[in-house]
Amino acid sequence: MTDVVQLEAELTAAIAAAANERALEDVRVAALGKKGSIAELLKTLGSMTPDERKANGPKFNGLRDRIQDAIAARKKALEDLVLDARLQSERVDVTLPAQDAPRGTVHPVSQVKDELIAIFADLDFKVAEGPDVETDDYNFTKLNIPPEHPARQMHDTFYLKPQADGSVPLLRTHTSPVQVRTMLAQKPPIRIIAPGRTYRRDSDATHSPMFHQVEGLVIDDETHLGHLKWVLEEFLKAFFEVPKVGMRLRPSYFPFTEPSVEVDVQCDRSGGQIKFGEGTDWLEIAGAGMVHPRVLEMCGIDPNAYQGYAFGLGIDRLAMLKYGIPDLRPFFDSDIRWLKHFGFSALDIPALDGGLSR
Ligand code: PHE
Repeated sequence: MTDVVQLEAELTAAIAAAANERALEDVRVAALGKKGSIAELLKTLGSMTPDERKANGPKFNGLRDRIQDAIAARKKALEDLVLDARLQSERVDVTLPAQDAPRGTVHPVSQVKDELIAIFADLDFKVAEGPDVETDDYNFTKLNIPPEHPARQMHDTFYLKPQADGSVPLLRTHTSPVQVRTMLAQKPPIRIIAPGRTYRRDSDATHSPMFHQVEGLVIDDETHLGHLKWVLEEFLKAFFEVPKVGMRLRPSYFPFTEPSVEVDVQCDRSGGQIKFGEGTDWLEIAGAGMVHPRVLEMCGIDPNAYQGYAFGLGIDRLAMLKYGIPDLRPFFDSDIRWLKHFGFSALDIPALDGGLSR
């Protein structure tokens, strides 16, 4: 008869020697499988006398239990080894300099857009959005620019293919249609900004056919031009990170505001450079005014109960001024040298607590 002590020694040695889970499984089958050594041993109990069985039963069963435990323990140890090896091989040293990280930069327009959002969020504005492809109705008619209105000519619109229903979609010429969308969808009080792309047939050092605006709209039961002026001034101070700004409001005309103003910022454009906060030049950065009662009405808001102000800031212009970029055209050339020079690190996320540009 097999010597239980010797069998246990052999199996224990085999378990310890199993270098991986497959080898261990082979040992398990050889010992505990249907035809395994321990199984065979247990079968011998059947042909024993009751006394022999009484003596051997506990021995055999004990052996089986210990071997089972030993295999389970070894299995766990092997799994731990595999996990340790994996953790070792997949280790990431977060203190290493990010040599293989993308070398791209954040475009000044994106950076300034994030700066704008941070500042206006602090002034309690929410961000609203609208599509680049707009309807004539939202881009013009509901902004008090009916068909045949001369202001339509001012905009040099890009029109798209006429639709089956006769309507002609267009590339929005300003972010003002987001005013319409917001008023149609929300009840006052409204306090939103809407940054985005805008399009006009226009191209020179300070105009590009695709450019960026941020629209602002506030509708409440008591708003006036003073609020508008305060918000723009607070914005400009935060944006340019200065205690005082040279700002000028000129009377102007927009069909959707009454009264209307244009906002200029003081700057110096001599010597091919653009400097903010000094000089005798003014750069127009915004159109603004009190929302025309007819616009409120067309957008489902009672002009007797509510007034509001709106403004449209040129994001590209703001970027040029703040970061001293003299020409607008290279903004959209994708010239890697320009992007390297004027771009921002991806980690340079604008926040007011760090003074925006830090
Ligand atoms: N939408 C105007 C433009 O693009 C700017 C503007 C916005 C004027 C809001 C007044 C109010 O020229």
